[in-house]
Amino acid sequence: MLFLQILLLAVLLPDGDSEDAFQELISFGIILTTSFYNISWTKNQGSAWLDELQTHAWGSKTGAFIHLQPWSRGNVSNEELKEMETIFYRYSIRTISICHNHVSNRQFEYPFQVQVVLSCDSHFGEASVGFMRIAYQGSDLMSFQSMSWWPSPKGGSRAEQICRLFNQSHVTNEIAQKLLSDTCPWLLLGLLDAGKAYLQRQVRPEAWLSTGPSPGPGRLLLVCHVSSFHPKPVWVMWMRGEQEQRGTQRGDVLPHADGTWYLQMSLDVKAREAAGLSCLVRHSSLGGQDMVLYWEQPHSMGLVFLAVIVPLVLLAGLALWLWKCWKTHWRPQCIRLPLE
Ligand SMILES: *[C@@H]1O[C@H](CO)[C@@H](O)[C@H](O)[C@H]1NC(C)=O
Repeated sequence: MLFLQILLLAVLLPDGDSEDAFQELISFGIILTTSFYNISWTKNQGSAWLDELQTHAWGSKTGAFIHLQPWSRGNVSNEELKEMETIFYRYSIRTISICHNHVSNRQFEYPFQVQVVLSCDSHFGEASVGFMRIAYQGSDLMSFQSMSWWPSPKGGSRAEQICRLFNQSHVTNEIAQKLLSDTCPWLLLGLLDAGKAYLQRQVRPEAWLSTGPSPGPGRLLLVCHVSSFHPKPVWVMWMRGEQEQRGTQRGDVLPHADGTWYLQMSLDVKAREAAGLSCLVRHSSLGGQDMVLYWEQPHSMGLVFLAVIVPLVLLAGLALWLWKCWKTHWRPQCIRLPLE
């Protein structure tokens, strides 16, 4: 456990000279989803992603990429962009026509969906050769490796036949190979460079505590909310002093619309054992300083009474007194004044 923590800290806390390099693995992926309704009606949807952040959209009507981030263009020139759009468009047209042809061979049946995924990774600023896969109705069908398409084990005879068809065109496979070995890594490194300030920004988490739905009589569900932080890696734990609480349940790290993240950690405890618990947050934006939130017993009814009811009664008394004063002193004056 301690080893894990040290490992995590090493990941979380950037060391001085690492400013330039992205430490973690970052992947860039292009996904093209085509829905086939009938022989004359298909719908294309393309998008590009840097890990979980969408950088581009693609509409098949114009065939142009839509840049979703101010830095989505990366270091691509206008001519290069046009060329890529053309390659992308031609490739999608070819894929679509092959798929349509397969309906007549009874390999595919309308309506169906085909997804093409092209992806590559960068690790420590070095980009790797990518991979390309095609799925039919959400299941792996085939993948591209060393210049040709290979059926996936679960693809059956359908995958074998379609691979054969795709592999008939050497030129198309050469284009695919080039996309994987050159274009994808080049785009990825360009994006990482152009979007560096945004991707490496440090945003401090906000944190607060609450109770969730009661797990049972005499029990409390304590919830520690950690919100609006960036980057994504974060370590959050319910503690009693130095002791990690093993029953802590980690939620999913969820995205906010602005690209920051949200996480909640909950702990089911006996109500009378809640005192003395705290939530500990470690994040790279905190500069090595942990954030600690202490659980406080909800105030007893007596305190609520003192804090809320007493001022209310005092206010009501004041209002009543003012109203009386107004009635007895002020109103006759107010009425009389204009008449004089
Ligand atoms: C394909 O589907 C569209 C929309 O449902 C329809 O208008 C069109 O007539 C269909 N075409 C054929 C050839 O079935």
